[in-house]
Amino acid sequence: MSLLGRLVMFFTRLGAVRALFTRFRFGRRVAMRFVAGEQLAEAVEVTRRLNAQGFQVSLDHLGEHVTDRDLALRARDDYLECLESIAAEQLDANISIKLTQLGMGFDDHLAAESLMTLAARAADLDLTITIDMEEADHTETTINLYSGVQREHRNLGLALQAYLYRTADDLARIAPLRGHIRLCKGAYDEPDSVAWRHPAEVDASFDQLLDELMRAENLLPAIATHDDDRIILTKRLAESRREPFEFQMLYGIRGRLQEQLRSDGYNVRVYVPYGDSWYPYLTRRLAERPANLWFFLRALVGK
Ligand code: FDA
Repeated sequence: MSLLGRLVMFFTRLGAVRALFTRFRFGRRVAMRFVAGEQLAEAVEVTRRLNAQGFQVSLDHLGEHVTDRDLALRARDDYLECLESIAAEQLDANISIKLTQLGMGFDDHLAAESLMTLAARAADLDLTITIDMEEADHTETTINLYSGVQREHRNLGLALQAYLYRTADDLARIAPLRGHIRLCKGAYDEPDSVAWRHPAEVDASFDQLLDELMRAENLLPAIATHDDDRIILTKRLAESRREPFEFQMLYGIRGRLQEQLRSDGYNVRVYVPYGDSWYPYLTRRLAERPANLWFFLRALVGK
């Protein structure tokens, strides 16, 4: 993350800034560039449109760091509802979940149970689930919960962050469980005791992991980046890959690139977030590209 990105992270964590974004309409207007809507019905509508254009989708019901049992169970139920809608509407989609939304970090056992419930229902419906990777404090537990449920249901995938020093070892550890592995750079502001902080180092790590992933058999590499150089390398490595892989990109980011890849014949899955807990997601999108703050300033003056 750039120095400016870290500054954005710092300021957006302040209560007054959060209030400014979340209490007034312009904050929501900026968020909706990156979020399908606050309701499941809006996300379903966006998914239907993206499917018609040839994209696959991963639906993320926004929320994280839940520290209340009832809210954690409600998050599980919201995801069950999302799975039912995907099946009923015959959408080409799966779901992406954050384990802290299911209570991980507050009650790991509860999160594990909810993940098992979701994986079981998804398996009944012939659907898959990807687990997002969150702050480095949660990596080990996330991998443990993923591994336990993946052994049982075999319909999970996991995001791995190239900026963490540990990720090459984690990839070796989870690869035998198959599933789909989403490789991304990493979106949190981590200390240099656990992560590379310089963009060139993160890119080098990404490329090394990408090379390993694209050679791996019996798992689906999901290459989650909007970075031209990483995409060029993926295409090159794909020439000698016999098994499938997919690109993944975020809703509202580099739409023309998404269309280009799809029309070139690549599988492209769009990550579509929805729900009213959009603030932390928005702050990460602003920190990745502080130029996005212009959207905020324009929304502030009503443009
Ligand atoms: P990079 O940041 O270098 O951006 C390359 C180019 O993409 C930029 O020059 C710009 O044009 C465009 N771009 C990137 N971000 C933008 C933004 N916010 N707004 C506008 N343009 C932007 N992270 C994580 O820690 N855990 C996770 O589980 C996931 N999951 C995930 C799923 C999917 C499908 C994607 C695409 C990404 C994630 N991420 C994530 C986020 C990821 O770690 C990373 O922070 C962002 O993808 C930005 O990195 P890029 O690889 O796009 O490169």
